[in-house]
Amino acid sequence: MVSNSLKLAPSILGGDHSMLAEAVRLIKAEGLTWVHVDVMDGHFVPNVSFGPGVVAALKKRYPDMFYDVHLMLDNPNLYIKAFADAGADLISIHVEPEYPVWETLDEIHLAGKKSGIVLNAGTPVGDLAPYLPKVDLALVMSVRAGFGGQAFNASALKSLSALKSMRDEMKLSFRIEVDGGINAENVGAAIEAGADTIVAGTSFFRSPKELKSAMGI
Ligand code: DX5
Ligand code: ZN
Repeated sequence: MVSNSLKLAPSILGGDHSMLAEAVRLIKAEGLTWVHVDVMDGHFVPNVSFGPGVVAALKKRYPDMFYDVHLMLDNPNLYIKAFADAGADLISIHVEPEYPVWETLDEIHLAGKKSGIVLNAGTPVGDLAPYLPKVDLALVMSVRAGFGGQAFNASALKSLSALKSMRDEMKLSFRIEVDGGINAENVGAAIEAGADTIVAGTSFFRSPKELKSAMGI
């Protein structure tokens, strides 16, 4: 049985984009260390967000934070070096697009970074299974990737508990992260189902203390 410490990774997608450093300052002021960065290419998802320059600038300003970078790209393999050089600490890649997933995980590790594999809403959780022995984190989307502020899809709870069982059966210890529509009302169910790493954008920046208290942190 794995017991990873419970972490809250606020998504700066939900912060004020005119002052992203202020968003990281607020995260740090809440006593948190993880910063979730949602990177979107306008192809894999119908939205465009932050590039490696944003990660580099934030890392320079707040070097002691842990940058959890979620790549929503058709070709994440082409951008590992850029995000690793920018200061990402963990780089997560989706299982859905056609690209060399194994080689990309190798590249993340060779760059000295932690890796994550991501399941979009609607993808069968079994698709993650081959990669689990190789990753540091598995991320379950509880909305369709692309936009902050969407409603939590409760079918993610099944994927979270299936992942937890797979982790126990395989005797692994990767973190289980959940991302999308998390708030003080549903975070308990996500933790109960198996999540130990919680991404929240909208609810964190609206009311960080309420979310932290619902998590018991
Ligand atoms: C979607 C993003 C969002 C985001 C979280 O692609 O990955 O899920 O960070 O935003 P909220 O908490 O607003 O759903
Ligand atoms: Zn994300």
